[in-house]
Amino acid sequence: MGRPAGFAGRHQGLMANRPVALITGAANGIGRAIAEHLLDTGWCVGALDLPKTGLSRAFGNSRYVTLLEGDVADEKTAPAAVEAMIEQFGRLDGLVSNAGIMIRKPIRQLSLRDWYRVIDTNLTATLLFARAAEMALRRAKGAIVTIASTRALMSEPNTEAYSASKGGLVALSHALAVSLGPDVRVNCVSPGWIATENHGKLRKRDHTQHPAGRVGKPEDIAEIVAFLLDRRRAGFITGANFVVDGGMTRKMIYEE
Ligand code: NAI
Repeated sequence: MGRPAGFAGRHQGLMANRPVALITGAANGIGRAIAEHLLDTGWCVGALDLPKTGLSRAFGNSRYVTLLEGDVADEKTAPAAVEAMIEQFGRLDGLVSNAGIMIRKPIRQLSLRDWYRVIDTNLTATLLFARAAEMALRRAKGAIVTIASTRALMSEPNTEAYSASKGGLVALSHALAVSLGPDVRVNCVSPGWIATENHGKLRKRDHTQHPAGRVGKPEDIAEIVAFLLDRRRAGFITGANFVVDGGMTRKMIYEE
């Protein structure tokens, strides 16, 4: 776990009244949109991602961000990240466990190493971050939001590791909600198709097949995460899984 040069200690004392959230996988896609949305709505943010993923490019100019580099699947990363957040901001109100990867291979080609890489990154890391953040979140009466997937509920071929990791994440989230309550609320968001920089140009039918009439945007997920982190608005919501997929998991798709 490290911090890009020039960022350590830079923001101390600036943000006394702002709530503070740590977001994993924040350099790109959904995690980046969550971090930007929280910054826009008055939070301080710890943005964590692997080295060389463009963290400084994404957030270099913001006074309220601290940049954290590390692999979420490494057991040392979470305690170091939480310690850095406390050192920088003095508190932690929110944890968003968003970092995730997919390895898509037929099971006969899926090595045990592939399997563990996906499970460790998508599932085990969430436990490691919740464990490291527990006491700080309890002190703040804070909240955790985990990012699973509609693939926890339905599948395409050759997605066993990813689907299992996300199904595990839905269950881990309600287990944490019961263990950490009433101090800390824990909820899960399961996105459907969210178009990030990784998804090329979208076709008309990509949008129209959704009951909501369009593919999702990272901001759609950022909105619900911000809501769930906010105790004033979401104080009675814990242990839940929110499917945000434009209705796709409610649509019957048997061929005519
Ligand atoms: P993305 O690939 O654009 O961003 C993921 C970020 O996580 C990247 O910046 C990556 O460097 C970081 N990351 C990956 N492994 C890491 C590790 N070991 N340690 C630290 N950082 C790591 O992905 P996207 O689409 O933004 O997905 C974010 C989350 O949302 C993931 O958990 C994904 O499974 C989930 N999701 C995404 C959907 C979509 O359609 N985009 C749909 C359903 C769920």
